[in-house]
Amino acid sequence: MAEVRPRVWVSQPLFADIVERLREHFDVIDTAQVTQHGAAAIAVALAGSDGALVTLNDPIGAAEVAGAGRLRAIANVGVGYNNLDVPALTRARIVVTNTPDVLTETTADFGFALMMAAARRITEGERWLREGQWRQWSFETLLGGDLHGSTLAILGMGRIGQGIARRAAGFDMRVLYHNRSRLPDDVERDCRAQYVDFDTLLAQADHLLLVLPYSSQVHHLVDAAALAKMKPTATLTNIARGGLVDEAALADALSAGRLAAAGLDVFEGEPAVNPRLLALRNVVLTPHIASASLATRRAMVSLAVDNLIAALGFGPDAGRPPTPVNADQLKR
Ligand code: DGY
Repeated sequence: MAEVRPRVWVSQPLFADIVERLREHFDVIDTAQVTQHGAAAIAVALAGSDGALVTLNDPIGAAEVAGAGRLRAIANVGVGYNNLDVPALTRARIVVTNTPDVLTETTADFGFALMMAAARRITEGERWLREGQWRQWSFETLLGGDLHGSTLAILGMGRIGQGIARRAAGFDMRVLYHNRSRLPDDVERDCRAQYVDFDTLLAQADHLLLVLPYSSQVHHLVDAAALAKMKPTATLTNIARGGLVDEAALADALSAGRLAAAGLDVFEGEPAVNPRLLALRNVVLTPHIASASLATRRAMVSLAVDNLIAALGFGPDAGRPPTPVNADQLKR
């Protein structure tokens, strides 16, 4: 009788040469085009699968796995996994993995670039020039805020936040941070970062950078009240998740001059962007690309593939995926 191989579903096109490694162990059902799968389509795809390789485009919770009796592992290609209802998946005894570490430095580079672009009005200047508005060099055109010597305020001081703090040393910035828990002394020293409470962070920021994981507890953490505590000369950069910021309140603050500029790589309803933000000149908008260097995106897929192979009991790490999310909860 022919051997029955486990089946895995790959929800999006993800570097075919790397995904190919799955075929050594599994029958692979792949997806030729970037697709916004609806809940019903995800449920159908998972129903006959032992594992899945998914991205932030694919929301999966109790309903999507209800008919997926064989499903044992979901490997998310991304460090953030708010697309997955981890408690529900854990209850269904499904291993969840993500892709930390491999994207830290690339994402920190991008956070810094986005903050600089917002503070120094780089994309605004480019648009203005392309529109043919540059008729004569003038001393007071597009004056921005400095980064060097200013106060960088980092909300969320995990690996990426720490990478940004280390970069800030080269710009002679004072670094403040706020986090669920305070970092050990040696890490604070290494990052030259000082822990402060949330209100102090907001009030003292020249440049506020959001790098914390999203969950419903921090939904709209940066709302109208938080923005009102910031300096009107400050900038806000978000490379975490759109749901952290009340976008309507942000648009109000930016258009009223209560905040100088913003850099946004993530949006609450992405790929849709709040039309009020689209209309504002003092916002740099990018399409969720903070980790999108070729090498890093390939490393993310490779790690997710390793995770899936191991979680389904194959390869050198069989049973021990390199970067599990819910291993501890599953042990209980
Ligand atoms: C992440 O890794 O969480 C990025 O936002 C891309 O998925």
